[in-house]
Amino acid sequence: MQQRGLEGRRIAVAGAGGALGPAVVRALAEQGAWVAAADRDAGALEVVREHAGDARTADLASAEGAAQWAAALGEVDGLLHLVGGWRGGRTVEALDLADLELLERLLLHTVVHSTRAFAPALKAAGPRGRFALVSSTVAQRPVAGNAAYAAAKAAAEAWTLTFAAELAEHGATANVVVVNALVTDRMRADEPGNAFASHTHVDDVAAALAYLVSDAAHAMNGQRLALHR
Ligand SMILES: NC(=O)c1ccc[n+]([C@@H]2O[C@H](COP(=O)([O-])OP(=O)(O)OC[C@H]3O[C@@H](n4cnc5c(N)ncnc54)[C@H](OP(=O)(O)O)[C@@H]3O)[C@@H](O)[C@H]2O)c1
Repeated sequence: MQQRGLEGRRIAVAGAGGALGPAVVRALAEQGAWVAAADRDAGALEVVREHAGDARTADLASAEGAAQWAAALGEVDGLLHLVGGWRGGRTVEALDLADLELLERLLLHTVVHSTRAFAPALKAAGPRGRFALVSSTVAQRPVAGNAAYAAAKAAAEAWTLTFAAELAEHGATANVVVVNALVTDRMRADEPGNAFASHTHVDDVAAALAYLVSDAAHAMNGQRLALHR
C-alpha cells in the first residue's frame, strides 16, 4: 500500500512540465501532498493536471513571474526546482555567449527568483520548510564542451547551499539532488538497445525528492544527494 507520509504538505514544483516533472508531481500526490505545478508553457502542464491541485503558467526567469506564483499559492511547505535546459558542445573560445546568457536565465535566474519569492513561506513553515534543486554531475566534475552549463549549475548549487545555511535558522532545509542524466520509460521504449547505464530513472529522482520534503529528512540540510553511479 502507498504510504501517505506527505498528507497536509503543500509543495510547489517549478518546471513541472518537463521530463522529470510528471513523475515528481505524481509521487508527491500519491503520498498525500497537495501539489502546485508551474511551467512557462500551458501545454506542458496538461500531463500533470491529473495529480496537481493547482497548475499554472509562470515565467520563473523573471522576478515578477516568480513573485506572482508565490503570492497566488500563499502558504507553502516545499519548493522543488526542476527547471532545466542545455546548450553546449563547443570549446570555451567557440561557445556562443548567447547560450551562456540563456543557461544563466534557465538554470540560475529561475532558482534565484523562485527561492526569493518563496523564502518567506519556507521560513514560516519552520521544520516543514524545504527547498531542493536538481543539479548535474558536471557542476562539480566539469567535462569539455560544457563550460556554460557547468558554470550555471555550479552557481545554482552555491545559491542553494547558501539558502540552506539561511533556512537552518528556521529549522527548514535546502538540498541538492545530483544526476548525470535522466531517463524516462518513453526513452527506454524508443531505444531498446540502449542500457542508459549512466542515467537515473525519473521515478527514482521523484522518490528522492519526496523523501527530502518528508519528516524523515528534517535533519538533512545543505547536502548533495548523489543519485548516479
Ligand atoms: N534531463 C537530464 O538529463 C538532466 C541531467 C542533469 C540534470 N538535470 C536537471 O534535472 C531537472 C529536470 O530536468 P528536465 O529534463 O525535466 O528539465 P527540462 O525539461 O529542461 O525543464 C523543465 C521544465 O521547465 C520549463 N521551463 C523552462 N524555462 C522556464 C521558466 N522560465 N519558467 C518556468 N518553467 C520553465 C521547461 O520548459 P521548456 O521545455 O519550454 O524549456 C520544462 O517544461 C533540471 O533542473 C535539469 O537541469 C536534467
